[in-house]
Amino acid sequence: MNKTVICPGSFDPVTLGHLDIITRASKMFGKVIVAVLVNSGKNPTFSTEERMELLREATAGLDNVEITSFKGLLAEYCKSSGVDTIVKGLRAVSDFEYEFQMALANKKLNPQLETIFLTADADSTFLSSSMVREIGSMGGDISNFVPAPVHDRIVKKLRKQ
Ligand code: COA
Repeated sequence: MNKTVICPGSFDPVTLGHLDIITRASKMFGKVIVAVLVNSGKNPTFSTEERMELLREATAGLDNVEITSFKGLLAEYCKSSGVDTIVKGLRAVSDFEYEFQMALANKKLNPQLETIFLTADADSTFLSSSMVREIGSMGGDISNFVPAPVHDRIVKKLRKQ
């Protein structure tokens, strides 16, 4: 489908779960804009530039994927970028209520906006960035959780924490 979609998130840091969703979206759509939230209010471990750089490296083989960042409301960012479709991953039923709320709120703010959910890969259903941060900062093995090309950079940063 020759359509541009947005995959938004904090990506603090990117995990194999995120990469799975981005890769599958890139096969389904003409262009995928991966949009990193600048002010997540979560006091991110990785700076916006670091998160974008890790995503660029992790998606280097995907020609139709572009990495960018945004501030403020996602619905407004989509409007100003001329994009009307958000793609997100659903890992488990527990994600559903929150994602459903966000999709409805975004549609109220920008009625043109649709949200499409891809079911997460079975290996990623338990995965989250905070889990990666916790295991990595305690010296645990995160090689099954983060993309291989950015593994060493993530480990180095987390061990400094
Ligand atoms: N695989 C692995 N982990 C995944 C995942 C997947 N497919 N999808 C989500 N996650 C994890 C993330 O790693 C993250 O883990 P953590 O909380 O342990 O660090 C967690 O799920 C939440 O993901 P996050 O990247 O923070 O995204 P989100 O679903 O909370 O939404 C935005 C982030 C950017 C889409 C949302 O906050 C937003 O739109 N903000 C802009 C402000 C705005 O418009 N607000 C109104 C919204 S209605």
